[in-house]
Amino acid sequence: MHFNTKLIHGGISEDQETGAVSVPIYQTSTYRQNGIGQPKQYEYSRSGNPTRFALEELIKELEGGYQGFAFASGLAATHAVFSLFQTGDHILLGDDVYGGTFRLLHQVFEKSGLRYTLVETSKPETITAAIKPETKAIFLETPTNPLLKITDIAQVVKIAKAHDLLTVVDNTFATPYFQKPLQLGADIVIHSATKYLGGHSDVVAGLAVVKDETLAKKVGFMQNAIGGVLGPHDSWLIQRSIKTLALRMEAHQSNALKVAEMLAEHPAVNEVYYPGLTSHRGHEIARKQMTGFSGMISFELKNEANVSPFIEGLKIFTLAESLGGVESLVEVPAIMTHASIPQDIREKAGIKNGLIRLSVGIEHADDLLSDLQTALQKAGV
Ligand SMILES: Cc1ncc(COP(=O)(O)O)c(C=O)c1O
Repeated sequence: MHFNTKLIHGGISEDQETGAVSVPIYQTSTYRQNGIGQPKQYEYSRSGNPTRFALEELIKELEGGYQGFAFASGLAATHAVFSLFQTGDHILLGDDVYGGTFRLLHQVFEKSGLRYTLVETSKPETITAAIKPETKAIFLETPTNPLLKITDIAQVVKIAKAHDLLTVVDNTFATPYFQKPLQLGADIVIHSATKYLGGHSDVVAGLAVVKDETLAKKVGFMQNAIGGVLGPHDSWLIQRSIKTLALRMEAHQSNALKVAEMLAEHPAVNEVYYPGLTSHRGHEIARKQMTGFSGMISFELKNEANVSPFIEGLKIFTLAESLGGVESLVEVPAIMTHASIPQDIREKAGIKNGLIRLSVGIEHADDLLSDLQTALQKAGV
């Protein structure tokens, strides 16, 4: 079955009982048991729910994994995965990951004795030097948020396997439509399904997919023991959204390329970060491991003082956190999504105060280009 067909018919895509072509929303917390100690397939909705299971089966198929898990947010999925490790263990964390992922390790897990080192995963040669005897895993994003750095997943996996480490990839920016980390050798994939998978800026959700049974047992235990599960209605919304993922991702990408090319030529713009541009440092690796470049762009203006007037001049791009919805958004990572990372660490990773991030939506490209050009002109740049 082709991937685009799987988006619609993959996993459990209809109701076995009635033939309804949309999986019902099983809005129930518990299930009648056949007798004492004789539950049917489901016992209690934290442990399992048919609507959530349909989504979990779907994401498992789309990523090509052994089992999928749905959580109340992307960070709840990441929390369950970090919970696989013990006090004293050490994790290598990409230096340009989502600020909340950094905060989770730095301010929550470090308190219970999990250690980490930041590494520039887009330069895999730096990884080996950071590995310690206690290192258990490497956690990375590619493309990264917000600098769109590209990491060669297969190369990192090679290093990880040689040192018996798990490779965990946050695939939020690419989605399985453009990139399948498990097929490149990764062990666990994480998503903030709040973003492209949800696609309409109306649900907060997270997903994880593991490559084998051993990891499935461990993550499944954490999902149930910690309890940050996705509710049935939100599970249904994510499954419904995934049906149009192919159309949306193509539209995001096509618009983003036009926007990136326009910005790269604009005299007021200093640097554009978009892996689809041939000038991007990670372009060749992105071409090798992805089938497209998605819809996220970051850029810097030559004059940082113009950032506020530029953003105030935008009419279609909405100033808001989050990304991956049909509507175009703009934000300043250092002040918004990545403010939880201390300034010195942020700057070391290259996230300047004036960096602007765009989530390019699926509106008409001409309207987006004209919105950006008008705002740049109004800002006097
Ligand atoms: C790449 C990435 N991973 C994880 C997360 C966390 O996801 P959530 O906000 O759904 O908890 C985000 C949120 O912005 C993100 O951008």
